[in-house]
Amino acid sequence: KESKAIVLEEDKSLPAAVKINVRQALSFRNQRVKVPGWVHRLRVQGKDFMFIVLRDGTGILQCILADRLCHTFDAITLTLESTVMLYGVLNEVPEGKSAPGGHELIVDYWEIIAKAPGGSEAVTNKVNSESDPSVMYTQRHLVIRSDTHSATLKLRSYVLKAFRTHFDSIGYLEVTPPCLVQTMVEGGSTLFSLPYYGETAYLTQSSQLYLESCVPAMGSVYTISESYRAEKSNTRRHLSEYSHCEIEAGFIDFNDLLNIIENMICGVTDILLNDPVSAAFIKQLNPDFEAPQRPFMRMRYSDAIIWLNEHGIKREDGQDFEFGDDIPESPERLMTDTINRPIMLTHFPGPIKSFYMPKDKEDPRVTESVDLLMPNVGEIVGGSMRISNYIDMIAAFKSAGLAPENYYWYLDLSKYGAFPHGGLGLGIERFIAWIANRYTIRECCLYPRFPGRCQP
Ligand code: 4AD
Repeated sequence: KESKAIVLEEDKSLPAAVKINVRQALSFRNQRVKVPGWVHRLRVQGKDFMFIVLRDGTGILQCILADRLCHTFDAITLTLESTVMLYGVLNEVPEGKSAPGGHELIVDYWEIIAKAPGGSEAVTNKVNSESDPSVMYTQRHLVIRSDTHSATLKLRSYVLKAFRTHFDSIGYLEVTPPCLVQTMVEGGSTLFSLPYYGETAYLTQSSQLYLESCVPAMGSVYTISESYRAEKSNTRRHLSEYSHCEIEAGFIDFNDLLNIIENMICGVTDILLNDPVSAAFIKQLNPDFEAPQRPFMRMRYSDAIIWLNEHGIKREDGQDFEFGDDIPESPERLMTDTINRPIMLTHFPGPIKSFYMPKDKEDPRVTESVDLLMPNVGEIVGGSMRISNYIDMIAAFKSAGLAPENYYWYLDLSKYGAFPHGGLGLGIERFIAWIANRYTIRECCLYPRFPGRCQP
């Protein structure tokens, strides 16, 4: 009864509190501030002490409430995820103690902004680490507030920025191609189709063909756009919608393409490690991370087949691998994890690769193609040179069973000023899974889409 009656009032004789966010805390040491945020953690010690870890999206701050501040009705009934405004002085934590950022807020007044439910509706009952994965995906809007998940999403923002910084530094321009298309790039079996004003359209699998068409207009280009794959398989490295970073460069040869890939991975990694904020997220999520060493290992597909057989890794049917076989995810991962460094696997046979890949001049059984394989994740980049000769291109369309009429604009590329060119696609979520050591790429995007899940 008595506690309900307690009403707090701000002491107007104190210096006015400046509203800050947690990220700014260091520059407000020893000053009186007010900080809005969510109750991330809450510990009540006896009757007269409460410790709130406040989260505001920019960081977390340890806050101490004592005496009367803990006796109000709002204090006694405070729940996790409630929003509050805390007023007080930001002190350096006493020697021998630690707190995020090295400071703590000694609260002298506080207000509740909105209360989150407690009891059976409490956030801890909706999500906890023991929940099965499907609950975690259903409640992902709440899950992303956790230390690990929010760090992964913040790192993602830095990763996207780092790719843009890298391409900017080498003079590639960004383009934003359409996602609604009437052509396919990577095979008909993974196309999502939808009605389009009485016609059929598809969600794009790759912006590659559009990027190719930009090179004569803009020089080398890149995009970071969504790509869509109706992947039937439920694996930890496949999404139905993913962020696809693609580049296309003109007047290069296959060796240049391999160097572009190596420079991109090493350049982006350096940018992330040189920024103290993104470096801290990598340290938090993947404490043992080390930047990859140059040069990357280069291995021909035919040597990978020999490697698999020499190491007793068999096909699904128990037989040895043969030249021409697709190397599925699990043997590829075994090989990459055993070698334990980035591998640029090159020169895949034509029949297991895409229609637009040119044959190798010395060995026409194989194409000028490359996959970059990373330990713990497997393939994160797929790239190749492109057929640039009109006659060869028409033949490639024929053997892939594609109607050239639908690709008239693409075919014009090899008609009006054909040029040697190549490019690549990198799955942003796979890159994040590699650098942040996440088990599945589903954790590396905001709301993952995979078979059976299109919510939240
Ligand atoms: O190897 P892919 O299919 O190559 C292409 O789409 C080319 N047209 C790219 C190009 O040359 N412009 O895909 C490229 C990369 C893969 O290495 C992988 O990282 C990612 O895209 N990827 C996926 N990521 C998540 N979920 C999926 N279902 C993915 N499919 C491909």
